[in-house]
Amino acid sequence: MTGQGAYEQAYARWQADPLGFWAEAARAVDWIKPPQRIFDESQGAYGRWFPDASCNTCFNALDRHVRDGRGAQPALIHDSPVTGTKTVYSYAEMLEEVATLASVLVELGVAKGDRVIIYMPMIPEAAFAMLACARIGAIHSVVFGGFAAKELATRIDDAAPRAILTASCGIEPSRVVAYKPLLDEAIALSHHEPEACLVLQRPQADASMHVTRDKSWRAMVAAAKAAGRREDCVEVAATDPLYVLYTSGTTGRPKGVVRDNGGHMVNLLWTMTNLYDVKPGEVMFTASDVGWVVGHSYIVYGPLLQGATTILYEGKPVGTPDPGAFWRVIAEHKAVALFTAPTAFRAIRKEDPQARHLADYDLSRFRALFLAGERADPDTLLWAEQVLKVPVIDHWWQTETGSCIVGNPLGLELLPVKPGSPTVPLPGYRVECLDEGGRPVPAGTMGAIVVKLPLPPCALPTLWEADERFRESYLATYPGYYNTSDAGYIDEDGYVFIMGRTDDIINVAGHRLSTGGMEEVLASHPAVAECAVVGIRDALKGEQPCGFVVLKHGVSETPAQIEKELVALVRDKIGPVAAFKLALTVNRLPKTRSGKILRATMKKIADGEDYAMPATIEDASVLGEIGEALRGRGIG
Ligand code: COA
Ligand code: AMP
Repeated sequence: MTGQGAYEQAYARWQADPLGFWAEAARAVDWIKPPQRIFDESQGAYGRWFPDASCNTCFNALDRHVRDGRGAQPALIHDSPVTGTKTVYSYAEMLEEVATLASVLVELGVAKGDRVIIYMPMIPEAAFAMLACARIGAIHSVVFGGFAAKELATRIDDAAPRAILTASCGIEPSRVVAYKPLLDEAIALSHHEPEACLVLQRPQADASMHVTRDKSWRAMVAAAKAAGRREDCVEVAATDPLYVLYTSGTTGRPKGVVRDNGGHMVNLLWTMTNLYDVKPGEVMFTASDVGWVVGHSYIVYGPLLQGATTILYEGKPVGTPDPGAFWRVIAEHKAVALFTAPTAFRAIRKEDPQARHLADYDLSRFRALFLAGERADPDTLLWAEQVLKVPVIDHWWQTETGSCIVGNPLGLELLPVKPGSPTVPLPGYRVECLDEGGRPVPAGTMGAIVVKLPLPPCALPTLWEADERFRESYLATYPGYYNTSDAGYIDEDGYVFIMGRTDDIINVAGHRLSTGGMEEVLASHPAVAECAVVGIRDALKGEQPCGFVVLKHGVSETPAQIEKELVALVRDKIGPVAAFKLALTVNRLPKTRSGKILRATMKKIADGEDYAMPATIEDASVLGEIGEALRGRGIG
């Protein structure tokens, strides 16, 4: 990098005086008690941000904008090609909805500190629910609709919610997904039982109601409105949890990432201006789902905290109805920025390689495309740049951090793009690349990507009721650092390249999944003796899971029958989001002499890459059998 551009100045300012940097950023928040102390290193696992401040996130997302004259401005646009509807809520209307729903939560017995699970499709009420929890200091935990009952049950047991909010269905282009039977099954499976479920009936499916436990969302909200019941914002500590969001861990047990109130607001506001360059009054379109961190941060909280307008899109990049869907939404609602996963662009490109659909829309206000959730492959990035003729910005982050670690800070200045790299660390993040012994590696050399502690505001302080697991998972491997579990390298210009995970997490269509979790499901099938799941390359979804299974002797069913059952089992236990379509019977799995399954080598064979014969392999001929089995399915 050359010169002292705005990015270098900001980064240097943060390095010279991190507390001063965040104290200044914190001025963008309307606090109840403004922070006197910025950071207390003696609290928590690595310190806590704004330890003496108090605030309310919902107040900052809604009330203060109404107070400051934005009442009539659109806050949320629900654009739903799958139902053929579009609805706009102004800030004043959204505040009314949220304050009313908050009073319904109170009526259901929800109080400050209680957990509330939100299992909902992409409808405005999902965002209302999150903000209503924030308003009364309850801790929400949104569960993605594509997860099955067992996954939901695990989260119910971990979060122990007082109430669960749901809708009768989600709508996929190919089918209506009834949510209520999944919720009922999850509650039956879990040890914890919520006191109440608030159920929103959608016209596409009618949920059957449990007589005492289930309450009608519409009836309770209507009654609260008729009675003029609205709940005010409660004061919470900046360090109190705003939400818990579960993400894949290295086993079937997900990790409950905790997000606090104060640091989250400070960081999101900083990124809205300095990274995304979306100003108050402008429109941001984040095509993700409220069940993922991207949806939390940049469908709901970021744009609303900023006083911008957010688009909640209930549809797909293709097929609803065509690959021009994103362009239509951008043009119609005058979005200045789009944020989505690269897989969405691969899907659009596959169906419309010449981007002919673009010609139908006026994208003159559109300024930038942001990609995250998986590595943006240079091919897709360059295609997007070429057809959209705006900066295309890959940026890297994780559920754990809640916002960007490495990015190209458009709001400060656009740095030169190096395709394949999400660019440079943002202020707050000192990113290093270490070898297995924890020593820094030379520029351009692959290693473990780590972040020097303390993590900045917004990043997780801990895992829900699992401080020890937090330390073990993230802080123990490289003392003094947060281990991202991503591998990559940093080049001589300081550009970071993120190449893949060092654990068993795979990334399927921008969705983070645990192969360990899938192995647990496969192993539970009575005919399976042994199994290994690896993520193999997929042109559309980046990776797709492939399960190798060794069957027990004397199994009466054919391998083909069992493979079919295994595909159905993963769908049933984890959910359709796992996109598990490939189970492959083999006679043996390749192992080291100490019995470790050689998953990385199997992946290389499937991806058609060269591999070095592992020195410790027990029987090298097994690799040939794996290659043969894959070729039998046209892979490798
Ligand atoms: N509720 C229920 N089922 C869901 C669901 C939801 N909210 N979301 C996805 N599913 C189902 C899909 O219907 C599909 O089921 P199928 O196996 O019966 O076809 C399965 O889960 C896999 O979904 P997905 O991986 O999304 O594949 P897809 O074929 O439906 O769509 C893309 C492919 C590329 C268009 C799509 O993955 C996409 O838009 N991805 C963007 C990724 C994203 O937003 N990531 C978030 C981080 S930014
Ligand atoms: P999630 O927690 O679901 O957001 O997934 C985080 C993981 O996705 C990271 O640890 C990376 O492995 C991967 N990831 C996200 N964004 C990027 C990116 N821009 N480049 C490379 N990998 C990414």
